[in-house]
Parts: sequence; structure tokens; C-alpha cells
Amino acid sequence: MTDPVLNLLLQDLRHRSERTLWLVDENIPADLCPAQPGFEVIGNRFDLIQALSARGWTTEFSDFDLSRYPDNSLQRIIYRVSKEKPVVHYLINQAARLLQTEGELILIGDKSEGIKTYSRKAQQRLGGTREERKQGSAWRAVLTRGSATDEPLEDQQYRQLRPLALDAGEPYLSKPGLYGWNKVDRGSAFLLEQLPAMLGQPLPLRGRVLDLGCGFGYLALNACDSDTLLTCTDNNAAALYACRENLAHRDLHGEVIASDAGRELQPGFDTIMCNPPFHAGFGVEGDLTDRFLEQTRRLLAPGGSACFVVNLHIPLERKAQGRFAQIRCHADNGHFKLIHLSQAL
Ligand SMILES: C[S@@+](CC[C@H](N)C(=O)[O-])C[C@H]1O[C@@H](n2cnc3c(N)ncnc32)[C@H](O)[C@@H]1O
Repeated sequence: MTDPVLNLLLQDLRHRSERTLWLVDENIPADLCPAQPGFEVIGNRFDLIQALSARGWTTEFSDFDLSRYPDNSLQRIIYRVSKEKPVVHYLINQAARLLQTEGELILIGDKSEGIKTYSRKAQQRLGGTREERKQGSAWRAVLTRGSATDEPLEDQQYRQLRPLALDAGEPYLSKPGLYGWNKVDRGSAFLLEQLPAMLGQPLPLRGRVLDLGCGFGYLALNACDSDTLLTCTDNNAAALYACRENLAHRDLHGEVIASDAGRELQPGFDTIMCNPPFHAGFGVEGDLTDRFLEQTRRLLAPGGSACFVVNLHIPLERKAQGRFAQIRCHADNGHFKLIHLSQAL
């Protein structure tokens, strides 16, 4: 096992125990997880939850909505800390509510991920004992629930959407827990600006349009109107929630569907817009770009166009070869390039 953090986590997952809940964010290879354990898992990433479900886990895909669990109802919560502080603080706050007295919160993570600080804060919040074990830079902390304090950790109201004025237009509804939640992605802004020239048609777009990896819906909201036959898809539960609310708010009639890079969608899109992710969680996942390209190939209608924006160093044109007969770099701005793909093979 190369990743010591994962190694620690897997030891806890193999241990069968009553009233246990595992909280997963985007950083666990499902194929290494034990099959058919005795407890539930809740996670915000669709592909991971699907994969765990296929391995016999009782799963729930949500943006960590734990409201159905009564207070003091759990014996154990296992959580490998996430990248973003608000979600970690939110889940520690939830543990203080959900754990019974003497119940355990098991936090796992690397020193570079702030695990030492989280462990200390969790002990303060839960008001019980703290026991820590190290394996190199990987840490496992067991925090018991004593008299939990009423003082929550600052979680920026993790579950709430909020309006954010991110450009000259109407505010966007967004929240922590989704990629780049409080800014306009510079690559996406470049794609949007060049979209009419790239496609040779003005905005708003007509026909069947897919926003692939939609986030809170920036591309769809700016490139489409209520006459566009719009579909938005993402892997992340918070993104889907925000996107759905943004479309409703602006009277766009799109459907918003959970999928792994579009795998669950029916083909036939005239236009696909995509700013693909190039990493997942703490690791770098080489095949993500391939996954997006392969689904784009499958989903594009004959005569349709896919417009991608990626960092200059991503070899998108090379990876697109064998999947599209036409691959054209429309422009680059020194940081990002815009790639037009058509004639899917
Ligand atoms: C660079 S962001 C772009 C977001 C949005 N389109 C924008 O322009 O602001 C990439 C998006 O891909 C999503 N994503 C990551 N892995 C995915 C997967 N396997 N399937 C679908 N979407 C995924 C992320 O949640 C994120 O919202």
C-alpha cells in the first residue's frame, strides 16, 4: 500500500462495528475498499458512491445532509478530512450532534492536510478525549464525545446557498463544497467570451446543449436562455444543488443530472461545453480527461461541436485523437487553450 493515509482508513473500514457512519469526500479509490461492510456511507461524489454501492455498501449520495440522523444516535463516525475547511468544520460540528456519549469520531489525514489542527479543534468541540497515532506523516485521531460545547466551529454555514456577485451580471447562487465556489473560473470566462466565434453562432445557444461538469452553472447560465434545450451534469452533490437553484432562479428550463463525466446521459447533443477537472481530491488522476473525452465522443450528435477549455499543459488534442476527426485549437491566452472537437468517430 503506497498511501499511508489510505492504509489507516482501510483498517477502520475493515473493522465491523454497530451504528457506524463513514463520510466520504472525493479522495478514496473505491476498488480498494472492502466489499459489503456492516455500515453506511454518505458521500458527495456520484462516481465514488456508485462504485461503493456496487461493492455492497449501503450508500447515500448527498451534500452531507445528515438531518435524518437523530441526535446522539451514532457510535462511530469515520472521516478522512476533506480539502476544504468549511466542510471539515461542518462535519465535526455534525459529529458533536450525532455521536452518543463516549461515541468516537475517527479523523484520518496527512499532516499537510491540517489533520493535527482538526484533531485539536475536534477535541475542543466534542469535549472528550483525544488519542492520536502516526504512520509517517499520516495521522489517525480518535476523539470521544464528552460534554460537547455549544460553540460550533466556523463552517461558513456549509449547507446554505448564498448569492455571490462574481461578475457584472446577476449574482450566482453558490456554496462551499463545490469546486471554485466563490469565483468565476478564468478558463471558463475565456471559453464563454470566445464561444460565439468558436461555434460560428451567437449566444444564446440553440438546440440541445450540454454543460459537462457544470459546477454552479456558470457556462449554462451565460450561454443559454429559456429556449435552449439544456442539460447540466456534474459529479458533485453541492454543484448539482447550486446549479439546479441557479437555473430555476433565472427561468432556464434545463435538467440537472448527476453523472460521472456524462456516462449516465443519452447522446444527441448539438453543443457540449466543458471545462474539465484535472485532479480529484488530494491525488492527481490521469484518466479523468480521457473519461470526459470518451463521453463527449459518445454524446455528441452528428454535426455537433464540443468546446473545451484546459490549461495549456494538458495534452487534450493528443488525447482527442482517434475519438474525433476534427480537432482544432481555436485560441490560447498564455494560460488556457480552447479546443474545438467535432466529427466524433
Ligand atoms: C473546472 S470545474 C468547472 C465548473 C464549471 N463548469 C465552471 O465553468 O465554473 C470542473 C467541474 O467538473 C466536476 N467534475 C469532477 N469530476 C467529475 C466527474 N467525474 N463527472 C462529472 N463532473 C465532474 C467538478 O465537480 C467541477 O464542477
